[in-house]
Amino acid sequence: MCGIVGILGREPVALRLVEALRRLEYRGYDSAGIAVLEGGEIRRVRAAGKLRNLVEKLSREDLSSTIGIGHTRWATHGGPSEHNAHPHVAGRVAIVHNGIIENYKELRAHLQARGITPVSDTDTEIVAHLIDLKLEEGAGPKEAVLAVLEELRGAFAFAIIFAGHDNLMIGARRGSPLAVGHGEGEMMLGSDAIALAPFTSRITYLEDGDVVFLTREGFEILDEERRHVIRPVQFTQAASLLVDKGGYRHFMAKEIHEQPDVIGHTMAEYLDFGEGRVRIPGLPVDLAALDRMTITACGTAFYAGLVGKYWIEQLARLPVEVDIASEFRYREAPLAEGGLSLVISQSGETADTLAALRYCKACGQKVAAVVNVPESTIARESDAVLRTFAGPEIGVASTKAFTCQLVVMAAFAIAVARARGRIDDEREAELVRAMQQLPRLVVQALEHEERIAEVAQELAHAQDILYLGRGINFPLAMEGALKFKEISYIHAEGYAAGELKHGPIALIDETVPVVVIAPRDALFEKTVSNMEEVLARGAKVVLITDEAGAAEHGAKTFQTITVPAADPFIAPVLYAIPVQLLAYHAAVFLGTDVDQPRNLAKSVTVE
Ligand code: G6P
Repeated sequence: MCGIVGILGREPVALRLVEALRRLEYRGYDSAGIAVLEGGEIRRVRAAGKLRNLVEKLSREDLSSTIGIGHTRWATHGGPSEHNAHPHVAGRVAIVHNGIIENYKELRAHLQARGITPVSDTDTEIVAHLIDLKLEEGAGPKEAVLAVLEELRGAFAFAIIFAGHDNLMIGARRGSPLAVGHGEGEMMLGSDAIALAPFTSRITYLEDGDVVFLTREGFEILDEERRHVIRPVQFTQAASLLVDKGGYRHFMAKEIHEQPDVIGHTMAEYLDFGEGRVRIPGLPVDLAALDRMTITACGTAFYAGLVGKYWIEQLARLPVEVDIASEFRYREAPLAEGGLSLVISQSGETADTLAALRYCKACGQKVAAVVNVPESTIARESDAVLRTFAGPEIGVASTKAFTCQLVVMAAFAIAVARARGRIDDEREAELVRAMQQLPRLVVQALEHEERIAEVAQELAHAQDILYLGRGINFPLAMEGALKFKEISYIHAEGYAAGELKHGPIALIDETVPVVVIAPRDALFEKTVSNMEEVLARGAKVVLITDEAGAAEHGAKTFQTITVPAADPFIAPVLYAIPVQLLAYHAAVFLGTDVDQPRNLAKSVTVE
């Protein structure tokens, strides 16, 4: 998703802007650009494609400006070309934008009626023109921006500079994230603290509706009602968590291998191993009094929610509805006042999940958020935050955040079961003990990487792949297919194993590999009979199972991948490892852009 940076500094900013944009690459983008003021005039350099194209162009420029804005763009309105890249300029205004202006067509018509024809296809350029028009009419920059903000519908974050104003930068946010960075005699704007990490660890997070006026000497924030407000300066860890690949070829590989560690960190927050208890502090509702709950999320986080549903319903006998956030709010689900909604989001900024959260709150529900970024909008707007401790996740395809979300969901399920009297001390301690094994078992699962890479190369020749799972492994099958398609660009679908014969079995022939996720658990035999159905039709089956499962049925399959034997309760976390590695190695073999797959964004801040 688009990334924004702005620096109002003391030294030349052009290359510093690029440095910050590099930190935002993980959000996904297809063009980039900067604008600075040279001798009071706007100078802009933009390039389609990766940042190196921008850097190449900048090497031919001589820019010494100490004020500038920069942007990585993920195309929404208008293709990913240079002329649609940000910053957009109109007269004395240069602007970068993250989000979508919903009423841009009306606004564009309004401009055209005034004889102004935008040169790009973007909604952003319209905003630049509207502000410039106000300047033409005699307004000052602050007044002009405030007036134009009133005319905009949609979600956005902006950073704006003005020709002739060497000591002013304006930021505004509604829906999309924006943070202010405090340097020594300089001020900054960034989509997140990671962008500003090379320059400062002192950050002020803007609230929805805020407008900020920056000078080198300080800043002034107006809230949604345009009242002066003071927002706290926080010290963020982003600066110390320097984001590098740590010797791995890709961030995704590094993040897959960090799982034993981050799962351990996340468990440490919620599990008391000594006592064999789960502790989830600060929940805004009495778990024993609930009669149902909802979970909403997008993408991989949605699958974590689905696994959570199986755990909560099985252990705690509490009905759980899980919905894709983008559907949930529009189906206007009836929700009882005082009930509990859980939202799950790695970034804490996903627009649809945020909208779902707000819908739940508007219905009078209490919202708990499972998030990885504690300063995020979703974390700040929730009644309780159940943090995952995955650390910054840079690869667009989520891996370690997913397994940490699963850990939180497992702990939460135990807590609900306990509160509702569905499990006793002994069972709680047993489940905690099972979870405690996870870091070690994940290390063992990772030891099969070489073998998994060989299987992945076989799968990389396919055009379509089916993933099958039953029970709690059904969401895993969907997550496996999602991982595979997002980074290898090969079509993959996850199905409930028992549903196969109601349609997808028609797809089966010897060219369609079928990945079957089947630990040797109570449902194993049933899943195996579905596997037999596809084997009978010539499919190449890749069975992911434990030693016992492999001993029984491994001989019939095309390939078998083994996972350490474990308590079935924690199987979903362990089986995530081979599905991640399969996708990763297929993508590496195919030579795709593993960390920044085409068309995808890490944090989707538009609907
Ligand atoms: C994007 C990412 C996915 C992620 C989803 C939800 O589509 O590419 O990896 O699962 O958003 O993101 P969130 O930050 O809310 O977990």
